[in-house]
Amino acid sequence: MSIDPLLGGSDRQTPQGRGSARRATPPPPVIRPAGGRRGSGRLGIALGVVVAAAAVGVGVVVATGGDDATPPTTVAAVTTPPAPTTTLPSIDLVGSSWWLVNPQRPMPADYIPPDLVTPNTPMDPDVTNPQVRAETAAAFEAMVADAATAGLQLQLNSGYRSYEEQQVLYDRFVADYGAEVAAQRVALPGTSEHQTGLSLDVGQVGLPDDQVFGDTQASVWVADNAHRFGFILRYPPDKAHITGYTNEPWHLRYVGVELATQLHDSGLTMEEHFGLVPPETTASS
Ligand code: DAL
Ligand code: ZN
Repeated sequence: MSIDPLLGGSDRQTPQGRGSARRATPPPPVIRPAGGRRGSGRLGIALGVVVAAAAVGVGVVVATGGDDATPPTTVAAVTTPPAPTTTLPSIDLVGSSWWLVNPQRPMPADYIPPDLVTPNTPMDPDVTNPQVRAETAAAFEAMVADAATAGLQLQLNSGYRSYEEQQVLYDRFVADYGAEVAAQRVALPGTSEHQTGLSLDVGQVGLPDDQVFGDTQASVWVADNAHRFGFILRYPPDKAHITGYTNEPWHLRYVGVELATQLHDSGLTMEEHFGLVPPETTASS
């Protein structure tokens, strides 16, 4: 397996050594009983009815009298739908699965993803940064398992990289290949998707050093199927004039199945899809 991006392997960094951890199962939501004082049980049940009815936009009348002879109380009809409990993805939202980071849209230098875990998949034996965010890890595990049913063995070559690790990688490329080549291959610190924990470099298990991932059947499979698991090829071969980077068939970005499928089908980059590219730029290549 080649470790040199210029040979088509991955853009992983020099060894830094990071710890790893298996994914932690999030705790189930806590459902607290209504009330807390003596005699409030019936009110709790009544409010539960109101909330349940509100969820479907229905007004109700609740009788709180019963056998204590209190007159029935009318509760105003509730028609407002409940507030959403989840935040919609956004390209501007730090940590969102749609978070759009590129050279023009840098990220906070000190950003560290909140839920880094190590996917339970094959790894490059030399990988030093195997962690990605939990949702990305689960999607990658599913993709690797599906590829295996097609007779293809995928592995993780590079995951989360801190600002400092990206600096080391960038400096090494400048030293080895010059600033111009480095700029087309490696993101400046603070502009790499690897720091989001939502990107990873995929490889093929046991790929000989004289072969490149982009020439493998595994690479073809990834290009055709990654969207089914929520991944896009972030730096396609014909979009360097938009992304700023040359073809990286190994660099996957997790955006969720819905957006990944749209981008796979349209052939657009995130920048094009979200209208961040002037028309004259999209026309050329
Ligand atoms: N190779 C990609 C552009 C990165 O360094 O994030
Ligand atoms: Zn990468």
